[in-house]
Amino acid sequence: MNVKAVILAGGKGKRMKSDLPKVLSTICGDTLIRHVAENIRDAGIGEIAAVTGYRSEMVRENAGEDLTFYLQEEQLGTAHALNCARSFFENEDCAVLVLCGDAPLVSGETISDLVGFFEEQNADICVLSARLPDPAGYGRIIRDEEGNFERIVEKKDATAEQVLINEVNSGTIIFRSRRLTQALDEIMSKKPENAQGEYYLTDTIEITASRGGRVFAYSAKDPNVVLGANDRYELSLCEKAMRASINKRLMLDGVRIIDPECTYIDRYVKIGEGTCIYPGTVILGSTEIGKNNTVYSSRIEDSVIGEGNLIDTSVIESSRIGDENTVGPFAHLRKDTCLSSRTKVGSFSETKASFIGEGSKIPHLSYVGDAQVGQRVNFGCGSVTANYDGNKKHPSVIKDDAFIGCNVNLIAPITVGSSSYIAAGSSVSRDVPDGTLVIERSKRLQHKAKIIKK
Ligand code: UD1
Ligand code: CA
Repeated sequence: MNVKAVILAGGKGKRMKSDLPKVLSTICGDTLIRHVAENIRDAGIGEIAAVTGYRSEMVRENAGEDLTFYLQEEQLGTAHALNCARSFFENEDCAVLVLCGDAPLVSGETISDLVGFFEEQNADICVLSARLPDPAGYGRIIRDEEGNFERIVEKKDATAEQVLINEVNSGTIIFRSRRLTQALDEIMSKKPENAQGEYYLTDTIEITASRGGRVFAYSAKDPNVVLGANDRYELSLCEKAMRASINKRLMLDGVRIIDPECTYIDRYVKIGEGTCIYPGTVILGSTEIGKNNTVYSSRIEDSVIGEGNLIDTSVIESSRIGDENTVGPFAHLRKDTCLSSRTKVGSFSETKASFIGEGSKIPHLSYVGDAQVGQRVNFGCGSVTANYDGNKKHPSVIKDDAFIGCNVNLIAPITVGSSSYIAAGSSVSRDVPDGTLVIERSKRLQHKAKIIKK
């Protein structure tokens, strides 16, 4: 049976105490709603709708172009929300998978398991449930003496006895479309009589069961599937759980993570076998790291890194790094830095929009910006490109085997020829031909000092 998915994302999320719609909160490099959509795609389901309400336009712009959107103007409950999307499924015999936009941990694998169980049982409704030591505010799964699933009771409507039940509704439910439309019609036909005065999607269970429908609760292997981010504390718990699963996947793929609790890697980051990551490292965005690198306590964002590099306590942003480079300790590679291979950018050096050729070294306290640097160039300690005149940025070209002495200012635009030497302390404002030694220091003035005795 064809499966179509609907993400419920109409609520504001009052408990977040933020103007941002709850589903646009970010964990592990993406918003909650985009995580949910990606999990659905991971399960091989391509037809996805989302119900939006609070700041609808903003949610739609973020959620992804391949989604179909339905508007819920007023937030009157989960059944009401799904009813707003009924034209998505009401005229066909399909399965409708409903997920909460604030529950990012229902993985593709869990969704596939749920769909598989639903089909095997030839079910009309199947709820993804979980057993929790603390069932908190979740809807309770009510079963009869034989263990058959009967209905869901929301915490706020539960009796003292029902509150103790620790099997709960994850909020992910799959329906046969015809049964769903029937049940929604019934729920929407009368005023809700429950503690929250809302149209509850969970009432579909009792309605469908009473009409002889086949209803099941499928208990997830991973109890984290229920984790929803209703406030910022729960958001941190969701992020922690997702982070643990990202790190586990990477470790099983051969990445060495010394302390996964203290290593922060976004969902879409790729890392090759044999790379070793020490604690305190943050790897963000679309970063791709190859094999056999060693990374100590660094932040690496939207960058592509080859193999066998050593990166120590450094910050790397939107940059590309080849193989066997040494970065740090305490280097800052800003946007559009490109290190070829076997280079070194060391202590307190900063680079920006620069290409650094093979074997070149910027070992200490330098700034290299808007520069094309050839091979085997050496930047002495404290040497800088003066690329900015207060108005415009200017380029520097430094050719192969040039030697830039300590504390040299290269006043751009400038070209330094190959195999040329610039003496320490020079401020060079004109091009340097190939194979030339340049000393450009101010003339020394010397006077006899007056010694004042106190
Ligand atoms: C819901 C379930 C509960 C389950 C829990 C799992 C119902 C009645 N209760 O409770 O059994 O244990 O999820 O997390 O379904 N939404 C809308 N429009 C609305 C109301 C909600 O789009 O009018 C969306 C929200 O944005 C959210 C999702 O539906 O993404 C769930 O709503 P929420 O209010 O968080 O439901 P819970 O009280 O958590
Ligand atoms: Ca919720």
